[in-house]
Amino acid sequence: MANVITGQNVNMASTLVTGGAGFIGSNFVLGWLAADCGALVNLDKLTYAGNPANLASVQNIHRYTFAHGDICDSTLVAKLFRKHRPRAVVHFAAESHVDRSILGPEEFLKTNVDGTFTLLQAARSYHDSLAGEERERFRFLHVSTDEVYGTLSPADPAFHEETPYAPNSPYAASKAASDHLVRAWIHTYGLPAIVTNCSNNYGPYQFPEKLIPLMIANALQGKALPVYGDGMQVRDWLYVGDHTSALRTVLERGRIGETYNIGGGNQRSNLEVVTMVCELLDELVPKSTFRPHLQLVKYVTDRPGHDRRYAIDARKLEGELGWRPKESFETGLRKTVEWYLENAAWVENVTSGAYQQWIEQNYSTRERGDATTIEARRKADAGRGTR
Ligand code: NAD
Ligand code: TYD
Repeated sequence: MANVITGQNVNMASTLVTGGAGFIGSNFVLGWLAADCGALVNLDKLTYAGNPANLASVQNIHRYTFAHGDICDSTLVAKLFRKHRPRAVVHFAAESHVDRSILGPEEFLKTNVDGTFTLLQAARSYHDSLAGEERERFRFLHVSTDEVYGTLSPADPAFHEETPYAPNSPYAASKAASDHLVRAWIHTYGLPAIVTNCSNNYGPYQFPEKLIPLMIANALQGKALPVYGDGMQVRDWLYVGDHTSALRTVLERGRIGETYNIGGGNQRSNLEVVTMVCELLDELVPKSTFRPHLQLVKYVTDRPGHDRRYAIDARKLEGELGWRPKESFETGLRKTVEWYLENAAWVENVTSGAYQQWIEQNYSTRERGDATTIEARRKADAGRGTR
């Protein structure tokens, strides 16, 4: 792949971000530049999940540099370290969708494991070359997921930093492997790294393969809202702006070698989430011919190995570093739905072409013969006396 490096900020202390054109990465980059936190270099391969349009508003800012390339490319990564002499690395780049990892795990091992290894090696060699204040302040922040901890039953306490790793999907396993590599590079080579494990994010710029933006995009077009299994799986939702503020806090004040869990304190079943999205759309798009949008729900075949519940105990981050999420799920979800309504062109742009193939591949085989609509499901449940 041709590596295109644009921008001019070679003299200011930079932060090297990987995967900054993706969902969380672009929110981080926009927040960082808006808060004037310093120069930033964004290394991104621009896979299907990376979208330069997310960063159009900052592309001409002199503090921002975009490097198009792969984190597995050790020559390019070393060159970026030499050229920009970053004071920190914030590592987002990953294959991130569980369903894609089930259908094709290979890319997950390449980017999430090999890519993290390549970055760690380059960071280690760069850190070894530093002296004095530059060496003191260097940090490697590895952004990971709560999915490394596996699944919880309803009564289990939330994941904390000492919860044993038990990844269940190829995605989670690849992220767990990358976390272990970071841990080893801290302990063996003294790399000043910190790991964060966060819960499900939602907010602007999320690719509509994930639950919330998929439901919004489908509902607006009157398409089925595919709920996997019984829809009672629980996730702990974190507004992306709260996540990026937590990352800035950890980068500034987090202790080297530590793990910090980041969560929004918003446990909701998937069905609750879909219901809230539908109700917001009923309110915000009163003229829609698809109202009530909840009628579009369709129960489909479950995801294999589907984790039942995730929940995060973020007390370490809150107590030690004073971070708190600002958004409740109600306020964050409203902002999110409003953003998607105001950015229909963005959605249209990312849902053409290859996206349609993904939808076909992931959903065409999920048809179910039993009670698939919300109305039929309610009747069936009533018949069994479950509701
Ligand atoms: P995303 O899929 O939206 O974006 C990933 C970005 O990485 C894209 O811009 C893509 O082009 C880039 N990328 C992929 N492979 C690359 C490679 N080999 N080299 C360089 N760039 C590459 O992901 P996201 O949702 O923004 O997640 C970011 C990070 O946060 C990931 O590490 C993910 O595991 C973690 N995380 C995400 C969530 C969530 O809810 N989205 C929750 C917990 C943790
Ligand atoms: P997702 O957004 O893929 O995140 P993750 O798998 O990392 O938690 O899915 C969130 C939840 O929503 C998960 O329990 C799977 C479920 N889900 C559906 O029910 N239907 C869908 O079409 C998608 C994409 C997800």
